[in-house]
Amino acid sequence: MKKNMKKKKKDTHKKANILVVDDEKSMRDSMHMLLRQDYNVQLAKSGKEAIEIVNQQHIDLVLLDIRLPELDGIEALKIIKGIDESIEVIMVTAVIMVKNAVHAIRLGAYDYITKPFDIEALQEQVEKALEKRSLQQENQILRHLIDKEHQFEKIVGKSKTIKEVFKAIDDVAKSNATVLITGESGTGKELVAKAIHNRSSRKEKLIVAVNCAAIPENLLESELFGHERGSFTGAHERQIGKFEIANGGTLFLDEISSMPLPMQAKLLRAIQEREIERIGAGYPTPVDVRIIAATNSDIREAIKKYKFREDLYYRLNVIPIHLPPLRERKEDIQLLATHFLHKYNHEFGKKIVGFKKEAIKALEQHDWPGNIRELENLVERLVVLTKDDNISIDKLPQEITGTICSEPDTKEQSFHQAVKRFEADFIRRVLKKTKGKKGEAAKLLGIHRNTLLQLEKKLNINE
Ligand SMILES: Nc1ncnc2c1ncn2[C@@H]1O[C@H](COP(=O)(O)OP(=O)(O)OP(=O)(O)O)[C@@H](O)[C@H]1O
Ligand SMILES: [Mg+2]
Repeated sequence: MKKNMKKKKKDTHKKANILVVDDEKSMRDSMHMLLRQDYNVQLAKSGKEAIEIVNQQHIDLVLLDIRLPELDGIEALKIIKGIDESIEVIMVTAVIMVKNAVHAIRLGAYDYITKPFDIEALQEQVEKALEKRSLQQENQILRHLIDKEHQFEKIVGKSKTIKEVFKAIDDVAKSNATVLITGESGTGKELVAKAIHNRSSRKEKLIVAVNCAAIPENLLESELFGHERGSFTGAHERQIGKFEIANGGTLFLDEISSMPLPMQAKLLRAIQEREIERIGAGYPTPVDVRIIAATNSDIREAIKKYKFREDLYYRLNVIPIHLPPLRERKEDIQLLATHFLHKYNHEFGKKIVGFKKEAIKALEQHDWPGNIRELENLVERLVVLTKDDNISIDKLPQEITGTICSEPDTKEQSFHQAVKRFEADFIRRVLKKTKGKKGEAAKLLGIHRNTLLQLEKKLNINE
């Protein structure tokens, strides 16, 4: 096993350049001997010589003695980091100087080792430092790509479908046409609405959002059109509606399919006539508003069930923009994860350099029922909780990595607990597949519906 690991190490970092800086020849020689098989090793006798090499050549990692004549290790470290901050440095120190090594870490050194060093520990540290460096470089390239090519307004992605959305936004922004954005929850509908507004000639004015599902039916009309004082019980003041607030700008009608039918008729009229009537006013007020509507449910189904007016649908759907679920644009996952990692690193003052390959692979295999919002929330949580400088697969929650391939949980005390965990996870996954439909899930599991209900209770599945 160990042999295999070692072989893998060699393959990954064959070409890394390491500079060993030590005034003792025996130390330089032993490190050289130890590392030359796997890396290109250079040697320097002093801090000054080390800096010359760093200035002239491509160095990935420096093994830097703390006690050096003239320019000591700490000073050399500062200069090296000043030349290229991304060069990793491991301090080499006698035990009595460990305090200085800790200081060096604050100055940006990756870690330190004490003399006389343990061969395996040194190899492991070198490996880890180089891994961090290559992850950092990979991450930098990704971030550069996001900044230069794969971002439109604040929308990140490189998949064919998202690039088509970028183009649609750009085209539609120039017009005043009504837009209907469709897509599952968390796919970025609000982000797209904002992007359209920001690229339109209305951008100096407001984009006002109304969530039609969150406002009680009897208040929605007043919310949209406003009311006059005394027009109904409780109307103590005159209130301007969202249409008037958005005048000259954009009105974003979110979850439009939840709008009650009587309100739909009034909305249709307002769009067609370009005027609204405050409740109790008795006269119309002209408004110049661009409408962008969004829905995460199938509006055609609602039309079939007479819950949504067909004429309003055609009025809204002048330009349709559909946002595909994340599971249908998996090539965007790495970019999005990197984008959110950067965002939350910044927000929480962390310096996590990137996701390891297996972690990205696991993210790409997940179904993401909550789409990009789910991915963003996960990355936020990982940034808060991770103490290492990278995110590896074992930091991901079980619903992403899957129970079967996961390592046994060492906190588990008994076989029974492990079985319980497996059962609960398995049932959850089947329920997810059937979208919570118990009868269907029971059928798939090959158990009676009542047994499923009992198991749910016993295993606290709904919590
Ligand atoms: N392509 C993307 N690039 C970067 N961030 C994104 C992208 N798509 C979505 N997001 C982010 O994901 C989160 C959810 O997006 P948004 O609120 O626009 O989704 P939605 O489709 O309106 O969801 P819902 O139907 O639940 O209201 C937001 O924080 C948004 O900034
Ligand atoms: Mg939304």
